Amino acid sequence: PIIFVVTPTHSRLEQKAELTRLCQCFMHVPKLHWIVVEDRESRSRLVENFLSKCKVVSSHLFVKTPDESVLKANESRWKKPRGVQQRNVALSYLRFEHSRSKGVVFFADDDNVYDLELFNEMRHTQKASVWPVGLVGKLKYETPVLDSQGKVIFWRTAWKGTRKFALDMAGFAVNLKLITDSPKVQFRSGRSIGMLETNFLSDLNLELSDLEPKANGCTQVLVWHTRTEKPVIKNEGKMLKIPVDQREV
Ligand code: UGA
Ligand code: MN
Repeated sequence: PIIFVVTPTHSRLEQKAELTRLCQCFMHVPKLHWIVVEDRESRSRLVENFLSKCKVVSSHLFVKTPDESVLKANESRWKKPRGVQQRNVALSYLRFEHSRSKGVVFFADDDNVYDLELFNEMRHTQKASVWPVGLVGKLKYETPVLDSQGKVIFWRTAWKGTRKFALDMAGFAVNLKLITDSPKVQFRSGRSIGMLETNFLSDLNLELSDLEPKANGCTQVLVWHTRTEKPVIKNEGKMLKIPVDQREV
């Protein structure tokens, strides 16, 4: 099976650094197709140039998050979900272009860190695989909790533990067939916040008993929900205006 990795991404100073880390990780994974979806009205030259040099098979899509869904400067970051429209465009693309492919779909945000081993773990997913995610939800890790038979029974999370699937976007992968078999299913935040992942898996008609725990019975952390510090470039104004200023960072 091919691993389809879906990455929403938005323009900002550290974008190229984030994408570089992902590219140089994914290039070590065989049969991986990277679907990069920009949060923009059109493809940026930066990402276009970047992907043309990156040695990973990729598709470059775009969709702009509508203004009313964009977080305002004074709003807490959990108020509005990010990357929703972008992941949904990727779902449409997969249904349209890859409906007959054998594959697995993984939603990989551009700021996380991925262990190569994670891709071996997810590749042979029947329905949906799950595993721990490090440094998320104000915990060292969140993880599915298994019973003695190795089935998921609940979730180690400090936040909305009553969600049916109380995991982060980086904590699961689904077989492409589930996505093509349910052509209407999309990411939706619904009425309450933080329900993207659980709504998506519920909408795909999954039950806890369907989940395939990976990473040695969910004992290993193979992905970290890292976040990059916002670069401060306030000294740029003090620099002489020389042509190197035009360089694309
Ligand atoms: C957490 C989860 O890990 C995300 O999967 C989830 O989408 C997000 O919360 C949410 O609440 O929606 P977090 O680190 O807070 O993640 O989110 P970001 O990493 O800032 O954004 C998730 C993805 O969306 C990233 O790949 C980012 O580049 C992209 N994004 C972010 C956009 O496409 N547009 C934006 O305006 C902001
Ligand atoms: Mn993030």
